[in-house]
Amino acid sequence: MGLLDTGYVYARRYREISNVLLKHGLGYFFERFGIRPFRSLRERLFGPSIKEQLLVLSEAERLRLALEELGPTFIKFGQILSTRHDLLPEEHIKELSKLQDRVPPFSYQDAKKVIEKELQKNLDEVFISFDPEPIAAASIGQVHRARLYEGDDVAVKVMRPGIEKIVETDLFILMNLAKFAEKHIKGSRFFNPVGFIEEFSRVMRQEIYYIHEAQNADRFYSNFAGSTTVRIPKVYWKYTTKRVLTQEFLEGIKISHIPQIEASGLDRKKVSTDLANAYLKMIFEDGFYHADPHPGNILVSLEGKIIFLDFGMAGYIDPLLRKNLVNLMIATMRSDIDLLIESLEEIGLVSEAGSEGPEIRVNLEDFINTYYDVSTKFIDPTDFLRDLTDVLIRSGGRIPTNIMLLSKTLMMRDEINRRLDPEHNFAELTEPYVKKMIEERGTVSYIMNETEKSLSDFAHLMRIFPKKAINILKKTERGRLGLELEHRGLETAIEELDIISNRLSFSLIIAALIVGSSLITQTRMSPSLWGVPLLGIFGYLLAGIIGMGLVISILRSGKW
Ligand SMILES: Nc1ncnc2c1ncn2[C@@H]1O[C@H](COP(=O)(O)OP(=O)(O)O)[C@@H](O)[C@H]1O
Ligand SMILES: [Mg+2]
Repeated sequence: MGLLDTGYVYARRYREISNVLLKHGLGYFFERFGIRPFRSLRERLFGPSIKEQLLVLSEAERLRLALEELGPTFIKFGQILSTRHDLLPEEHIKELSKLQDRVPPFSYQDAKKVIEKELQKNLDEVFISFDPEPIAAASIGQVHRARLYEGDDVAVKVMRPGIEKIVETDLFILMNLAKFAEKHIKGSRFFNPVGFIEEFSRVMRQEIYYIHEAQNADRFYSNFAGSTTVRIPKVYWKYTTKRVLTQEFLEGIKISHIPQIEASGLDRKKVSTDLANAYLKMIFEDGFYHADPHPGNILVSLEGKIIFLDFGMAGYIDPLLRKNLVNLMIATMRSDIDLLIESLEEIGLVSEAGSEGPEIRVNLEDFINTYYDVSTKFIDPTDFLRDLTDVLIRSGGRIPTNIMLLSKTLMMRDEINRRLDPEHNFAELTEPYVKKMIEERGTVSYIMNETEKSLSDFAHLMRIFPKKAINILKKTERGRLGLELEHRGLETAIEELDIISNRLSFSLIIAALIVGSSLITQTRMSPSLWGVPLLGIFGYLLAGIIGMGLVISILRSGKW
């Protein structure tokens, strides 16, 4: 494509986009950007040609229809936006969650051409039979049923011809709009539009690269190898490229077709429990989960196994996030506000600089004090994550995409679970997974083994102590700088601050010594005196001496 040609493609697509938005009465999107949308002469003379039947719809509905019409990039964009409770009002979130990616299929001839070009073979050299009618068609690709020469039944996903170019053009246009917004729209920087589109482009490019989906499928396949409750289709790598994905064909009933599930003699409650447990395993054990659990992507096999399909979107939970998610639930159950805030800081839900303002702590305290009702026994991570992110958003916080994705996935799962079993209790099923994680953590250090909760609290304090100390020192430093700037000459105030920060530092050192010595005394470290390690005794003594000194200096100053 030449430069001029490229320019023409962009201009044409840009015009298409503006036409669709205008048609749905959404022209003000452009006005917000200070851009004039393309208007025909007729429109300029007679006003915009908004379809009247569209105007009876709400703005959110019109937005959804417009995005559906604009194709895969915008459909995905809308789907991702639908997880952002921090950016959009509830009505829009609801409507965007309904975004459907169903378009007329492309022809068998086109599908054949793509497959032959990609596999470098004639279609009938690979398949004994190939159903020319697709099972399903979406804007990026469609799925055909076929049989390999080896005899295996397969589902062949074929990419729609020309879709990569459309997606790249759309991403280019979206990026330009984001840059424009960041430069010209006041306050837009807070939402980091360029970063958002960068991240979105990454996700979108994975969608038009089937190898990525095949790799995800492979990973789920090995994570669930040997499972008695879950089946994942095998990938046929020999017949898989970036535009063709060949997988084992798995027969099943759509998980939302409950009458059919029951008619097959399957126990819907067991199906529900198996689905929930599959999610708990993916989240708490594998750290890798299927992030698009809408009913079209999950089947139930005739033997009652859960079949996952469509691995275009997967979520990751690294060990740090996993640990902190558990800590957040424990903190809430124990009403431990410090542990809650510390865990939130560790995963970036609350900034350590406290940029969200003081109300965030107050709101979190309210949350923790009212959230957990002891009679419910255990927390449901679905509700918990939704409610916690709501509190943070209301307090002016920002939620990272991976956490929004997890929350959204859990909610989609919840919908299916409740349809299958109105008495579904996810909290109860979660408990053993969380308990197991806590136990595993306990065995990491032998010190933890010997003692009960008090020591594990000590260990926790020891771990966070250096960070806390640095934080406090940083804050003191910052405070001092502020004072110097604002009240030049008020040396006495600064001197006082010096004294305060010194005393604070001493207190911290004493605390560290006591905690450290306590830990040491729990061990059998030699040399020891009456079975107590000498190093521990020495630590206590040192803490005692510094402590006495501190008390004396405070008493002397007369300020107590
Ligand atoms: N391995 C498979 N076995 C059986 N049916 C499949 C398989 N893969 C896809 N399908 C069918 O094709 C449909 C679309 O496939 P999917 O991977 O979900 O594509 P999309 O990304 O377009 O949603 C599925 O809902 C299912 O009906
Ligand atoms: Mg699908």
